[in-house]
Amino acid sequence: MATQRTSPRTAGVRTPPRAAGVLSRESGHEQVVFCHEPRSGLRAIIAIYSTALGPALGGTRFYPYACEEDALADVLELSKGMAYKNALAGLDLGGGKAVIIGDPERDKSEMLLRAFGRFVQSLAGRYITACDIGTFSADMDVVARESSYVTGRSTELGGAGDSAVLTAHGVLLGMRAAGEQVWGRWGAPWQRRIGIQGVGKVGFRLARTLAEEGATVIVHDVDQRALDRARAEIPGVQIAPDLDALLTADLDVFAPCAMGGVLDERTVSRLSARVVCGAANNQLADETVAKLLDDRGILYAPDYVVNAGGVIQVADEIGGFDLVRATKRADRIYDVTREIFRRGAADRVRPDVAAARIAEARMADLAAVRTVHLPRTA
Ligand code: NAI
Repeated sequence: MATQRTSPRTAGVRTPPRAAGVLSRESGHEQVVFCHEPRSGLRAIIAIYSTALGPALGGTRFYPYACEEDALADVLELSKGMAYKNALAGLDLGGGKAVIIGDPERDKSEMLLRAFGRFVQSLAGRYITACDIGTFSADMDVVARESSYVTGRSTELGGAGDSAVLTAHGVLLGMRAAGEQVWGRWGAPWQRRIGIQGVGKVGFRLARTLAEEGATVIVHDVDQRALDRARAEIPGVQIAPDLDALLTADLDVFAPCAMGGVLDERTVSRLSARVVCGAANNQLADETVAKLLDDRGILYAPDYVVNAGGVIQVADEIGGFDLVRATKRADRIYDVTREIFRRGAADRVRPDVAAARIAEARMADLAAVRTVHLPRTA
């Protein structure tokens, strides 16, 4: 993966909180663990937002953060997002996330990954890790040599493998649900024009499936190798030279599949699409953007709802991976997305508000039930 040293915002960071705010009521996180192992160079943070529904599951992001504070802001935001995502996906899992500070291409080593694995193990199952930006199934295989609380391992070792498979599947289902909401039906694929930012693991699969179905697919990526691969392997794909060209192309759907924070006042004002539905986490640069989209009549399918296929895939590994079972579970993303639009319309709130309400209610309701005392043998 080509890793760039970008601004914190493109790493999915919105408003960097002060470190002193971690224990505030507003933050709401259960536990934040700083991990330092000097011989391997490991500097990592594990954040557990909630274990109300079960052990906190979320991937490990290996990223060249400019400073510790950026890494902390990212892991706090991402772990919260995982709690909401896992709740809406109907999983018995809470939300957590880890970040490793460093350049994965330069700093990743067996020693470092194993040191990280020991920190994960030390939490005794309160946190289960997986892949994210900068980490791959082969890395999780190494982490698993020190920890039993690892998913997203290689398929040869009984793991769920590349979670992009069901992430792309879920985004497609979310797109259908959103299309039906806006146009009454998704319609024939050749009537749809889809713009995809980022043709990495997820965006590439999404682009190829849509193009094979006959849709017009326009992509943009900052990595020339990703574009070359798209051009070679996706029938009829069009390349936009920059983000502006993509946003202002005549699109029905815009699918952010790169880094977070792509939607802000400027980009929303240029967007031609009627639907935003993509895989990237934290697509909205700040809380005001959902309203900007709504004011322009653009339907936003909340990112953590439609990109849950990946976590559904790796969660299935916990009980022994079965792709058919995991795919069936991911198919429900279509119904959940529709339900969010329905609830939003009924309650006269935007879809992002409706989604958060449903997730928060599930966490609160099940946490209440789980106060029932269990005898030691149960
Ligand atoms: P990836 O790293 O394989 O692909 C990202 C692509 O975006 C790369 O080709 C990269 O060159 C490109 N990119 C980066 N910055 C860009 C920019 N400013 N403009 C245009 N292109 C840019 O990552 P992957 O796995 O495909 O994930 C994509 C997004 O979806 C990420 O935000 C990730 O957090 C999110 N996601 C991924 C899941 C998965 O299962 N892989 C699950 C849920 C969310």
